[in-house]
Amino acid sequence: MKEFIKLIEDEIKAAFKAAGFDEKYGSVTVSNRPDLCEFQCNGAMAAAKEYHKKPIDIATAVSEQLSDCSMFESVSAVMPGFLNLNVTGEAVATYANNMANTEGFGVEKAGNPRTVILDYGGPNVAKPLHVGHLRSAVIGESIKRLLRFMGHNVTGDIHMGDWGLQMGLIITELNERKPELVYFDDSYEGDYPKEAPFTISELEEIYPTASGKSKEDPAYKEKALLATAELQKGRRGYTALLEHILNVSVTDLKKNYDRLSVSFDLWKGERDADPFIPDMVEKMKADGFAYESDGALVVDVAEESDTKEIPPCMILKSDGAALYDTTDLATLIWRQNDYHPDQVAYVVDKRQELHFVQVFRCAKKTGIVPESCDLKFIGFGTMNGKDGKPFKTRDGGVMRLSSLLDEISEKMEAKIKEAGTMDDEEAKKTADIVALAAIKYGDLSNQPSKDYIFDVDRFISFEGNTGPYILYTIVRIKSIINKYIEAGNSMDDLTILTPDSDSAKSLLLSLTKFEGAVSGAAEEMLPNRLCAFIYELSNEINHFYHETRILAEEDEAKKKSYLAMLDLAKRVLEQSIDLLGFEAPEHM
Ligand code: ARG
Repeated sequence: MKEFIKLIEDEIKAAFKAAGFDEKYGSVTVSNRPDLCEFQCNGAMAAAKEYHKKPIDIATAVSEQLSDCSMFESVSAVMPGFLNLNVTGEAVATYANNMANTEGFGVEKAGNPRTVILDYGGPNVAKPLHVGHLRSAVIGESIKRLLRFMGHNVTGDIHMGDWGLQMGLIITELNERKPELVYFDDSYEGDYPKEAPFTISELEEIYPTASGKSKEDPAYKEKALLATAELQKGRRGYTALLEHILNVSVTDLKKNYDRLSVSFDLWKGERDADPFIPDMVEKMKADGFAYESDGALVVDVAEESDTKEIPPCMILKSDGAALYDTTDLATLIWRQNDYHPDQVAYVVDKRQELHFVQVFRCAKKTGIVPESCDLKFIGFGTMNGKDGKPFKTRDGGVMRLSSLLDEISEKMEAKIKEAGTMDDEEAKKTADIVALAAIKYGDLSNQPSKDYIFDVDRFISFEGNTGPYILYTIVRIKSIINKYIEAGNSMDDLTILTPDSDSAKSLLLSLTKFEGAVSGAAEEMLPNRLCAFIYELSNEINHFYHETRILAEEDEAKKKSYLAMLDLAKRVLEQSIDLLGFEAPEHM
């Protein structure tokens, strides 16, 4: 379906043309003075320059062309040359009925569907998932769902950090603790045990211990670097240990991401790029792109137009080890081979922007990806505590994601139990659902690139621009519909009639903005645009609810129309929150 505002614009453009002006002046926007009109067109001001006429005369001439257009209740030309537009109730009601009866609410799929690889999540194996990884997962999941909704072909890849020094550190620490393990015996040629020699909780303790030691003790660090290099060269026992680390970690990661309703199509990591590194390096050298500088192998990526210095891309360290640049470049090789993506988009902390500028330039320059492939960095800001500093636990440590989720679910559970409307089991289930919405909406309602304050008390509030407020609005409609059905009525074949109040019309107008919000959020990769839409829609729903007797309405046709409106609003909200990555409970 064509967007409602575009239908209006078509009429205005046609009127410009009929009045003898170029139709390009007929752009329409939502009014910024809702007290005066619903939509407006300011094109007469610009047209005045071209046609050497007074803007008001142009606006008046255009409005005259529209005097019997069924779309508008009123078209007025006001000084200095605005066109103030109000649509008819019939026009919005017809549009809303079409939305209700069309698959996907009539949103038109993207004209040019893209093959997209979305790189998000990016957890580091063996390190507990912390809040820093929350944003990447939450934003990435929503962008994936939005793009898919618009018809793009998206593959989500978690791109685990599974190939760096942290692996060497864990191996070194295990060696200190259990030197007798067969993995450290060079002469061993048999099969390695299937069972990992550690549990996830041990693993999560081993890494910080090892990392702490390596900072204090240079000899320990040396060992860890050596272990890393040997692992990367394929030492058998270490490779077997790495498999264990990965299995144990991935099992735990999956649990965490499941809890967040975040999923990935590919569970690849930096390690999967390794087989592509040798040939990539050789080719970069042979093509004359890579050269030695201070022992390291680098590729220049600075461009003349740079306003700040962009250092060369580091391909190999002087000891021959691969770096973060290297694995990201080699990862693009298999992505290119297997998927031929039109776009590869990375949802990563914005502090890594320089790294991606270097990698993107190097990948294009050396021909790893064709010029036509769009490499996109979606940098997100920091999640800060109420003190404005990066979010920490009360004792100043790094907050584990699971503890954060537990804490918020518990708070929510207490709140729900206070209301005393459900048994303990349902309260717990509901609390988990609402808590997730609180966290995700708290994040997604901000523009990704901005830092934001993680304010639990605000996020879990049922009032204001919060996830629970949106859910509450949905639950409120569900309960009205349930009552209607329990009274023996059916929700089938309901029709929205011409709105009979301002609040009803505003609600319908708000619904017509769904397509613009969802396609805008997808194309710009800004889920916050969809959040702004559902917040406005929720406000309109609650306003309508307070102004209108719904189930008590005696006129059956009117009552049915109200229910049809609420039902559409509920479905649009449910669709939207699904695109944001959360859901609504039955009761709250
Ligand atoms: N593991 C990285 C980190 O924790 C994020 C990975 C982002 N993706 C990428 N292709 N570099 O910082």
